[in-house]
Amino acid sequence: MNIGIIGYGKMGKDIFSLFFDKLPDAEFTVLEIADAEKNTAAVVKTLDKSLKRKKITQEQYDFKKSSFRFTDNVNDLKDCDLVIEAIFENIQAKQDIFGKLGNIVSENCLLLTNTSSLDISSVFENIPHRERCFGMHFFYPVKLTGFVELNILPETSDDAIERAKSLVTAGGKKPVVFSGKYHIYLNQLLSCMVTHAIYMQKSADVSVKEMSSALSPLFPVAGPFDVLDSVGLGLMGGNISNFRIERNKALLEFGYKKMKEWTDAGCPQTTLGFLDFMAEHEKDTGNDCGNAELDMAAFVLNEAVNALEECGGDTEIISEAVVETLGLAEKPSYYCKKFGTDALFAALDRYASETGYDTYKHKDKSVWEKYFG
Ligand SMILES: NC(=O)c1ccc[n+]([C@@H]2O[C@H](COP(=O)([O-])OP(=O)(O)OC[C@H]3O[C@@H](n4cnc5c(N)ncnc54)[C@H](O)[C@@H]3O)[C@@H](O)[C@H]2O)c1
Repeated sequence: MNIGIIGYGKMGKDIFSLFFDKLPDAEFTVLEIADAEKNTAAVVKTLDKSLKRKKITQEQYDFKKSSFRFTDNVNDLKDCDLVIEAIFENIQAKQDIFGKLGNIVSENCLLLTNTSSLDISSVFENIPHRERCFGMHFFYPVKLTGFVELNILPETSDDAIERAKSLVTAGGKKPVVFSGKYHIYLNQLLSCMVTHAIYMQKSADVSVKEMSSALSPLFPVAGPFDVLDSVGLGLMGGNISNFRIERNKALLEFGYKKMKEWTDAGCPQTTLGFLDFMAEHEKDTGNDCGNAELDMAAFVLNEAVNALEECGGDTEIISEAVVETLGLAEKPSYYCKKFGTDALFAALDRYASETGYDTYKHKDKSVWEKYFG
């Protein structure tokens, strides 16, 4: 298999490295505008180390050393079976590169974009044979995350989806398929969770530190405010039009306004600036936020049920992806049992009447039982 990768930045490097390690027979062509020699030397250095540590045999080393090349010439991708694009997030640049590629590669070559926010259909505007075009969205860091989103178009063929699924599986990841307004759903979900946490903090009139600590049993590694801190206000409060699920728009708008207020008050927009800023500028109130766990679980479970009802898909895979993306300690069904639907619905009803947001509307008990037992 000949794999093309376009852009060898943060994501391109990780995607290359995943498949380079996992696919013993694959060959790689990496299109990158800069540093071909430096990039080649770095890959060879890693291979040298693997050989020295006996992670690969001499035969594997010899094959791998000649199985990849860096180039700045798009024509070198002509024999690829699939191409994964990971250049910077700009619609014009992505359209340009796919516009060229569409005329160079064979009509069976899968054309895949790793975009995390752009409209997938627009990325492939005017590309011939759109049945082979869709999003293949990896999460960072690629090696440590379990899922890859396949953001398919109405024209995407079953055969193309199956080929992409096989590739993702061969890379040791689980593919999860989303379509339409559910494209790049796991990012949308993360943003909604962060925004719900911001709403909970405001509503309980407690500090970010107090709300974080109340939520910590749900999120053993990193809670919503840690996510906001590591992504940064700039990116998280970026562009609301990236999020297309209607029922969550009002909640997200609330979050954007709140993040703008913090930015206007001097909070850095860069990563790892939020928590320090809040610690400096907020005082603990000592107010009660004893229901935080229940209130957050109610949001997460409700969103999962709504997503499953609207976009279908494999319940088990989507549940697992939700747990991993949000960093939950347990599966949704655990929280459903722990808190009970009556208490979870009461929490949602309270938020719905307080805010009027559609996010908090929920389906009947029978629907929840279908998914959470
Ligand atoms: N950074 C993340 O955490 C993350 C996570 C998931 C998805 N993504 C998406 O992945 C894509 C890449 O993001 P990134 O963070 O790796 O960006 P990056 O800026 O680190 O890397 C982009 C690379 O593309 C190269 N490049 C730019 N134009 C090119 C062209 N025409 N031909 C060849 N190479 C070109 C640049 O030299 C650079 O090395 C974006 O669409 C982004 O939204 C990013």
